Amino acid sequence: MKPTLTLDLADGRTSEIYIGSGYLQSPELASTMALTTRVAAISNDRVASLYGEVIDHLAADHEMILIGDGEQYKSIQTYSEVIDQLIEFRFNRDTVIVALGGGVVGDLAGFVAATYQRGVRLIQIPTTLLAQVDSAIGGKTAVNHKGGKNLIGAFYQPETVLIDTNVLTSLPDEIFVEGLAEVIKYGVIYDPSFFEWLEDNTHSVLAREPDSLEFIVRRSCEIKAEVVASDERERNRRAILNFGHTFGHAIEAETRYGELLHGQAVSIGMVMASDLALRENLCDARTAQRIRNIVNAYGLPDKAPHVDKGRLLASMAMDKKVIQGELRFVLPKSIGTVVLTSEFDQKNLEATLDS
Ligand code: GLY
Repeated sequence: MKPTLTLDLADGRTSEIYIGSGYLQSPELASTMALTTRVAAISNDRVASLYGEVIDHLAADHEMILIGDGEQYKSIQTYSEVIDQLIEFRFNRDTVIVALGGGVVGDLAGFVAATYQRGVRLIQIPTTLLAQVDSAIGGKTAVNHKGGKNLIGAFYQPETVLIDTNVLTSLPDEIFVEGLAEVIKYGVIYDPSFFEWLEDNTHSVLAREPDSLEFIVRRSCEIKAEVVASDERERNRRAILNFGHTFGHAIEAETRYGELLHGQAVSIGMVMASDLALRENLCDARTAQRIRNIVNAYGLPDKAPHVDKGRLLASMAMDKKVIQGELRFVLPKSIGTVVLTSEFDQKNLEATLDS
């Protein structure tokens, strides 16, 4: 079976992405991939009870390591507990780590794979929309620190990403919809016709029609793969993938990761970035309005809950996108084109936060 997409990286490395429907229930693909080495699957209770069987087909010799469900488990403590178990089970350098779950499982398991015995093989099987279109692709792995999100991590590519869009049909509404924030992001940063398609097809996407699901996942993965291939370690261009994330991460941190899902915070962040771009005369009112409208059309939030402005500014100063003391934003110029800039008027930033 051929991968749907191949992410070509420096030094001949690749990350192969399979996108299809029914992979997790049908043993066929997993069996053709069958691994002869020992597998340590990392998942949580809920996902393992639904899809854990795929691991049986993937590897005869495996252990399942379960972590808690929720952003609070993307921590150094959980990381350390997983490492304890790998050592207890006597996993060695031939181990393949399989991340079966959403963004928390994928980011944490990825960081485990990057660091266990200086790095072992990694396969991502993302089971939420957000993980399928963003976090499982491109090799960013991390855990959070109380000082900020994703502050401890590594770039570490999965050799394979196995995406089954069928799992999206059984996600709770809120979890499905939060992933759409990242899908919309790809339209804004890269592809005006994809954005237009998303504007015109809210009904079929929200009804989770299989063809629409496969299309939005594939197009999002294609765009992400193209951007990552051009700048794997985010020296510059990859930063466009952070559209909406500078505001979003600060809002998440200031609401203590409790009030909003990541995609909801990104959605608010995209609207705030558009507001700032408008105040900076970078984009016109119609562009900013289209971004607000599409977010609303998909039932995503466009306003932050009340958070102190000073604390948001302090939180943004901790952002990984701060370089040499300068805060940088990804701001839209038009649908499909964004700029990465540290040149903005502080008064405009404060006005965006106030509004
Ligand atoms: N989620 C942004 C990136 O992978 O670069």
